[in-house]
Amino acid sequence: MCKFAADFINILMSVHVQNTRMTTAKLRQMKQNGEKIAMLTSYDYTLARLVDEAGIDMLLVGDSGSNVVCGTQYTLPITVDEMIFLTKGVVRAAQHALVVCDMPFGSYQISEEDALRNAVKMMKESGCDALKLEGGEEILPVIKHMIQAGIPVMGHLGLTPQSVNQFGGYGLRAKEQAEAEKLLHDAKLLDQAGCFSIVLEKIPAALAQEVTKAVSCPVIGIGAGNGCDGQVLVLHDMLGLNQGFKPKFLRHFAQLGETVKNAVGEYITAVKDSTFPNSEESY
Ligand code: KIV
Repeated sequence: MCKFAADFINILMSVHVQNTRMTTAKLRQMKQNGEKIAMLTSYDYTLARLVDEAGIDMLLVGDSGSNVVCGTQYTLPITVDEMIFLTKGVVRAAQHALVVCDMPFGSYQISEEDALRNAVKMMKESGCDALKLEGGEEILPVIKHMIQAGIPVMGHLGLTPQSVNQFGGYGLRAKEQAEAEKLLHDAKLLDQAGCFSIVLEKIPAALAQEVTKAVSCPVIGIGAGNGCDGQVLVLHDMLGLNQGFKPKFLRHFAQLGETVKNAVGEYITAVKDSTFPNSEESY
């Protein structure tokens, strides 16, 4: 193929990718059209590429990477640099999905200046499209600061795992009226501040539906019922890779844990009985 033709095809392909890329404006339009938004977490290039090719709208590099990738009990230990490392792979994989990266515990609570410095570093070094922060009114000045700097911010209310030590566990949030009222108030503040989306985690479905109707930005639920504008799950949980973890809100869309164990078992047997590699698999 001549160089002119190759350049022309490359230009056409990059225009196609740009046109099909998810944006915060398209997400808002999806809410207005009543079109549901599908989001999943990802922490590496290989799986993120498959998830992106399957047509996901948003990829979240969650700080749940601390649990899933590093095996920690809570999300608190993961650092800014570790989040950047994970996110870089996901960004390289994403051709269509909007990539959101979690700001880890301690990276936005110290001061507005420190938070903005970390946020800018995460955007610059990871290449992600947006950042997610846990909390409501208490972190509103920080969120406003970031939005003023041009960073798209996703809020996260309800069960905010970075506060697990304050909550004393991962139980359902906002069951009582006072907490439910604060959550609704916080969601309105985040919406007015310009958050492009809000995650609601593990709260009653009726409250999540009320919040979804009360705000203009898309609301993404996890354990928050079917009345949200979209849903997010941890990829390894919904693929059945995290065996033994089955909260009520989780659906296993595959049983890859079993698939992996069976495949590895067959490999071990084939090595031990010398049937792998065979002559066709040898040079
Ligand atoms: O870190 C994460 O995976 C999350 C989702 C559960 C929303 O924040």
